[in-house]
Amino acid sequence: MTKKKTAAIVLAAGLGTRMESDKPKVLHTIAGRAMISHLMETLARFEPDRIALVIGKGMESVADSVSPHPCCVQEPRLGTGHAVLAAKPAMDDFEGDVLIVYGDTPLVSEATFEAMLKARRATPGNAAVVLGFRPDDPGAYGRLVVGADGSLDAIVEAKECTPEQLEIGLCNSGVMAVDGARLFGWLARIGNDNAKGEYYLTDLIELARADGQRCAFVEAPLEELLGINSRADLAVAEAVVQTDLRARAMNAGVTMTDPASVFLSWDTQLGRDVHIGPNVVFGPGVSVGAGTEILPFSHLEGASVGANVRVGPFARLRPGAEVADTARIGNFVEIKNASIQLGAKVSHLSYIGDARVGPRANIGAGTITCNYDGYFKDRTDIGEGAFIGSNTALVAPVKIGDGATTGAGSVITKDVPADALALTRAPLKVLAGWAARFRKRRAAEKKKGQAK
Ligand code: UD1
Ligand code: MG
Repeated sequence: MTKKKTAAIVLAAGLGTRMESDKPKVLHTIAGRAMISHLMETLARFEPDRIALVIGKGMESVADSVSPHPCCVQEPRLGTGHAVLAAKPAMDDFEGDVLIVYGDTPLVSEATFEAMLKARRATPGNAAVVLGFRPDDPGAYGRLVVGADGSLDAIVEAKECTPEQLEIGLCNSGVMAVDGARLFGWLARIGNDNAKGEYYLTDLIELARADGQRCAFVEAPLEELLGINSRADLAVAEAVVQTDLRARAMNAGVTMTDPASVFLSWDTQLGRDVHIGPNVVFGPGVSVGAGTEILPFSHLEGASVGANVRVGPFARLRPGAEVADTARIGNFVEIKNASIQLGAKVSHLSYIGDARVGPRANIGAGTITCNYDGYFKDRTDIGEGAFIGSNTALVAPVKIGDGATTGAGSVITKDVPADALALTRAPLKVLAGWAARFRKRRAAEKKKGQAK
């Protein structure tokens, strides 16, 4: 862990035009949370003295998402050098190391940041350390020009490169660690006399070199440096993160029959010996206890599931679902804001919302908690060991006492005392021979009609 003073400046003023979105680019999600939040969490692991963001005009939603970290507005956008300069008010008197990162490059690892800070503090020291990578197609990326001694001489933007420089495969990711005592002095000296008429942050390297300072680079794997500019890039980043999350889960003792079809969220917690079938999706906020089995095609979000539970196939656990140890949630069952207590069973075709299902209670197929009258939501409370007959409609607010039974097909509108039977049912009529007479009559009518 890096204890020397460190700050970070996150550039996020870009409009993200190619996302074709009404939402700022950095708020698009990867594994269930905003890409900016992934980056903020990685940065927070250094316990930096401060993190400041540079955002564009009208990006209050980004500022809200990173609160209480300060956001500086860059308007107009005159280039990456100009963007970092916009963070100056938030960095007043700061003199440690400053990490400059891009909000749309959220997958840089803690280890990579560590390596950059280490290089920055090495002997001989490096005034700036740039994160390099080798993309398959260097295209429009800035090229890192490395001197004979292995130190970094310059970053040359593609548009300014000589044909020889364009052949360089080592590119600028944009991430930098810079000596904070000198950073803003150099930024103030950057001009915009170049192909794009922008203030290039990359010019900082040559300014530092001209001041007799050494600069260096560190390389990181391509997948950490996926920059997200389009929905297609977002999908690639999602795939990278999912692969990582699945590997972590399996390393921690989770079995996945078909890992590629299981989708996890950044915060999914899975216990040992959890077994996950194909095509299971975990939205944010799910925890699953040891030995639990999640059968295929289940969808879980904001739910806590205990140990040795069986969920699915085709189950849906919505926010506020709390399923205790050894309970059973079967096919086509939806649970929302409800606690299913120890060993209770909701095995088939049910909706249980705003409810408690007591320990070892059994909920028959097709049972529905009618929790909403179009205006208010009400609760259903089902006692320990209760037996709810198939196709019961429980009209909330309603309480079913411990050990009570409801008859199949009943509509329960009043509380049922413990150990009672409650049923609403029209008397059964049996008309002997009726069906046979009916068939005979209708068949004759049909025959007559065809003869016409
Ligand atoms: C930049 C680098 C290039 C590098 C590439 C990596 C410069 C001059 N060039 O080029 O060497 O290979 O990134 O992706 O730095 N931003 C602002 N305000 C601005 C301009 C940019 O906040 O005025 C932010 C953007 O939101 C984005 C980042 O800075 O997060 C990079 O900007 P972008 O315009 O994509 O830079 P490139 O031209 O790709
Ligand atoms: Mg770019």
